[in-house]
Formats: sequence, structure tokens, C-alpha cells
Amino acid sequence: MAQKTWVRMVTAQTPTNIAVIKYWGKRDETLILPVNDSISVTLDPAHLCTITTVAVSPSFDQDRMWLNGKEISLSGGRYQNCLREIRARACEVEDKEKGIKIAKNDWEKLHVHVASYNNFPTAAGLASSAAGFACLVFALAKLMKAKEDNSELSAIARQGSGSACRSLFGGFVKWIMGKAEDGSDSLAVQLVDEKHWDELVIIIAVVSSRQKETSSTTGMRDSVETSLLLQHRAKEVVPKRIKQMEEAIKNRDFGSFAQLTCADSNQFHAVCLDTCPPIFYMNDTSHRQVKFLVSCQCASHSRSSSKFYMKCDDTKMVAYTFDAGPNAVLIAHNRKAATQLLQKLLFCFPPSSDADLNSYVIGDKSILKDAG
Ligand code: ADP
Ligand code: DP6
Ligand code: CO
Repeated sequence: MAQKTWVRMVTAQTPTNIAVIKYWGKRDETLILPVNDSISVTLDPAHLCTITTVAVSPSFDQDRMWLNGKEISLSGGRYQNCLREIRARACEVEDKEKGIKIAKNDWEKLHVHVASYNNFPTAAGLASSAAGFACLVFALAKLMKAKEDNSELSAIARQGSGSACRSLFGGFVKWIMGKAEDGSDSLAVQLVDEKHWDELVIIIAVVSSRQKETSSTTGMRDSVETSLLLQHRAKEVVPKRIKQMEEAIKNRDFGSFAQLTCADSNQFHAVCLDTCPPIFYMNDTSHRQVKFLVSCQCASHSRSSSKFYMKCDDTKMVAYTFDAGPNAVLIAHNRKAATQLLQKLLFCFPPSSDADLNSYVIGDKSILKDAG
């Protein structure tokens, strides 16, 4: 390191992902190892994403981070774990033009500054921790020229926030829970890329962009400690659903996909209610939206059937899922279905700044519209 004045910077952009089979519960809090596999769809980074710039300079005297313009503490174990894991894999970097030469061993002494922005609400149940930690790990790996592939990076991002491991791939992604005690086999794999089933359209109804009262981390810790339904879900329900969901995605079977997605969201929120003290992520508007969606798709259907979802008219079906927050993520099977849905939504749940719904974000791989 010849001179003290240089700064090396890298900027990365990473999309968020929304789980259609949810991760809820850890078997190891430090390594962030889940109690079940999960599957998600990665959103186009043009819509909901994190942009993170990481910088290194010999003039920095400590690691620092700014999130959405405000400095945050890096002392939490999760940030330290990600930094440590990438530093351990750092390689020599040489930039002759700028006169920068960083030897492998220099990385331990150098400090980084991180500036990160989410282009969507943070900590509001739209998976900001997923996009955020995936982006941090990806950007640090580029800065330090780590040679690891995205799967290996996913196991590091997982130690920042579990859901982050799935944001390192596009398309549909599975987080394999793994068996190893050290977490080395708990990582994300891509099931299909973003071109497979590209007619799906995702509409996000931003019901509230306020920070949730119970973070995902705290909520799932309480569920693991107190919910019997969570134990049943992780052992009996999810393993079967994962297989069915993989089949539905592979075959582009929208009926099964929607049925599984809705059922899994419902069960996740049932686990939250089964938690002591109970957690309410969905609010009245979210519940009204579910009622509205079910009534649209099953208007002519008898409620008594156990195959309630299966018998619905496929062309009217919409998959809904709610993460740990009140905001609805709706997946329509094509553009026409999405247009019809949006028309109805705008009529029944008009966006307004002071009422039930803030805005709609529509993502079909190429457009973003804010109806607010
Ligand atoms: P969400 O539903 O938005 O994922 P969580 O409760 O899971 O909410 O996580 C929110 C936390 O994730 C934030 O308080 C912050 O610590 C972290 N986070 C959010 N965005 C970023 C980011 N861009 N970079 C690093 N960490 C982030
Ligand atoms: C409901 O990944 O945010 O979004 O691992 O504690 O950071 P930590 O939790 P987080 O939990 C996500 C929960 C979920 C479902 C999912 O994304 O699978
Ligand atoms: Co999160």
C-alpha cells in the first residue's frame, strides 16, 4: 500500500425476494439455520431493490455503515459475521491506474465504509433484510475480489438475514435447510431462472410502509419457543409442500402454485397467532383484501368443499402472500389477469395517503408503476 489517499469503491444492486413457501423459525440463532426449506420468487431489481456502495481506504479508521442516509451501528453479530466471512476470503487486488495494491493480508487491517439504500420501505414486511444483506455480501465480495460463487456467497448472506440467501439468484429459488451443524450445506439454489414462467405478473399492494412492531427475527424466535403449530408445520406440512411447489413451478401449473402459495401464507400467519404473545402482521385491510380475492376467484363455488382452492376457476385465480407485514404480494398468471385484477383493486382499495392503502407496485419484469 504505497500511499494513504486512495479509495477503492464498488456498487451493487440486489433485488428482494418474496417467499411462496415461508421460512419461519431457526434451529440455530447464530448461524441462522432454519427449521424448514423455503422457496421464493425474486423480484426484478428495477422494482424493489437495494443499492449498496462499499468503499475501502487506508484513511478509514473504523468500519461504518449508513442505511438510507442514516448511520447505523455495525456492532451487531450479523454485520460482523458477514464482514468476517468475506474478509477471510479476500484476495489480492491491484489497480495500476490508481496505484492501488492490496495484498491478501492487508484486508484484515483495512476498514470499510458502506452506504446502502432501499428503494422500498425498510422493515415493513417487504423483505428489506433479504435485499439488504444479499447486496452487502455481494458488494463486499466484489470489493475484496473473493472467488466464491453465488451459492457460496448465499451461505454468507444467510448469516446476515436468513431470507437474504435467496436474493443471490433470479427466478424461483430454494433455500435448502441443510443438515450440517456448521451450516455449510444450508444455502440457496436456483430452481428455474427468470425466463421460465415469465408471464407471471406481481402486484404489491403497499398497505403500510411503516416499520413493523415485531421484527422477523424476534417474531420467529417467539414462535419457535411457544407455537406447537410451528413444530407441526416444519415437520409435517412444509416438506410435502416444498415437493408440490417444485412440481407446480416446473410445470407452470398456476392452479397448484396459487393454492400452495395462499395456503402457506395463511399457515404462516396462523403460526403468528399461535405464538405467545400473538403476533399480528396482517391488519384489517390485509384481511379485507384476502376476502376480496377469495370472493373474486370463487364467486360461484361452494365454501363447504375441502378442495376449496382447487375447484376455483384457474383463469380468475390470483396467488396472494403476506410476509411479516400487512402488505399483499399478489401474483397473477399473466398480463391480462393482472390488468383485470388491478382494475378491481383500484376500485375496491383506492390508493390514498391517509387511508388504507398507499400505492401499488407492479412488476412484470419490465414496468414499474406507482399508482399512489
Ligand atoms: P423486512 O421485512 O423488511 O425484511 P426485517 O425485520 O426482517 O424486515 O429486517 C429489517 C432489518 O434489516 C433492518 O432493521 C436492518 O437492520 C436490516 N436491513 C434492511 N435494509 C438493509 C440494507 N439495505 N442493508 C443492510 N441491512 C438492512
Ligand atoms: C416472513 O430473513 O427477515 O419473510 O433471518 O431473522 O433476518 P432473519 O429473518 P428474515 O425472515 C423472513 C421471514 C419471512 C418469510 C421468508 O422470507 O421466507
Ligand atoms: Co426480513
